[in-house]
Amino acid sequence: MSEPLIRIVNLSKVYGAGETAVHALDGVSLEVARGELLAIMGPSGCGKSTLLNMIGALDQPSAGEVWVAGENLAQLKDVDHFRARTVGFVFQLHNLLPTLTALENVEVPMQGQGMGSQARRTRAMQLLEVVGLAGRAGHLPSQLSGGQRQRIAIARALANDPLLILADEPTGALDSQSGEELLALLNDLNQSRGTTIVVVTHDRRVAQATRRIVRMRDGRVVEDHRLVDPLEEDLRTLARSQLGQAILDEEDRPLAQMTPEEEAVLRRILLRVDGVQQDYQEHQPPTGQREPQP
Ligand SMILES: Nc1ncnc2c1ncn2[C@@H]1O[C@H](COP(=O)(O)OP(=O)(O)OP(=O)(O)O)[C@@H](O)[C@H]1O
Ligand SMILES: [Mg+2]
Repeated sequence: MSEPLIRIVNLSKVYGAGETAVHALDGVSLEVARGELLAIMGPSGCGKSTLLNMIGALDQPSAGEVWVAGENLAQLKDVDHFRARTVGFVFQLHNLLPTLTALENVEVPMQGQGMGSQARRTRAMQLLEVVGLAGRAGHLPSQLSGGQRQRIAIARALANDPLLILADEPTGALDSQSGEELLALLNDLNQSRGTTIVVVTHDRRVAQATRRIVRMRDGRVVEDHRLVDPLEEDLRTLARSQLGQAILDEEDRPLAQMTPEEEAVLRRILLRVDGVQQDYQEHQPPTGQREPQP
C-alpha cells in the first residue's frame, strides 16, 4: 500500500479549560488514501468542522498528529504555502470576497505563487469554465445565486490544482437541484483529476454519492463505512501490478511477466466477467439451443 494522503493519529482538541473545557475531538484516528471521496457525518457539535480545520492546518491540535502528503502539519515550515498549494477549501459561509468579481475571487489563491497576472487570469477563466460559470466572470458574488457562489468557491479551491479538497457543508444552503449539480461536479473532479475530497455533510444524498462514510459522535469516530466494489478492487490491483503496468505501457508479451498472484487476480476478474455474461444470457428469452448451465 502506498502512503495515505491523510494520516490522523489519536487527535484531540480541547477548547477552553477547567469546568468549561469542550473536548471537540477526543482521540480521532483516520487514514485517507489518495483519490478517495469521503463524507464525514454526525450530529451538530460532534467535531466535524474542527477535524476539517485540523486537516487544513487552520487550527492546532491539543494532542495527536496530522500528516498530509507525508508532512507532519505540526512541523510545517511554511503553513501558508501548504494551505495554498496542497489544500483547496470550500466552506459554506464567508466564501467569496464580496468586492471582487467571480474571476478575481478565483485568482486570489494564485497570488504570490510566482504566476504572472495574465497566466492567472487565463487559468481562472479555465476554472470558471470547469464549473460552468464562464459567463459570470465579471459578476460580483451578490449578483450570483447560492449555487453559483458555491461553484465559484470550488473553482477557487482548484486554483492551484490541490491534492486535497476540504468541503464543509458545501450543499447546506442550496436547493436540491443546485446541491445535486455541485455534487456531480465534486464527483467529476474526483474521477477525472483524482483529487482527494473530504466533505462534511448532513445531507444523506451527498454522503451516499461518496465511496466512504465516516460517522462522528462526541469528538470520536464511531463508524467508518466503505463501499468497496470487489471487481473494482481487483481491477485496481491489476492496474497497479507489474503486469498491469506492462499492459498499460504496451510492452511486448506482458503475460510472460505474470506472477502467480497476478494470474489469480486476472482469473477472478475473467471468471466474474464470464459469470456476468452467463447471467445476462440466462435472462434472455430461451432460444431452445443453449445447453442449461450447471
Ligand atoms: N473556537 C471554539 N471555541 C470553543 N468551543 C468551540 C470552538 N469551536 C468549536 N467549539 C466547540 O467544539 C465542538 C465541536 O464543534 P464543531 O464546529 O467541530 O462541530 P460540528 O460537528 O462541525 O457541528 P455543526 O454540524 O453544527 O457544524 C462544539 O461543541 C463547539 O461548541
Ligand atoms: Mg461544522
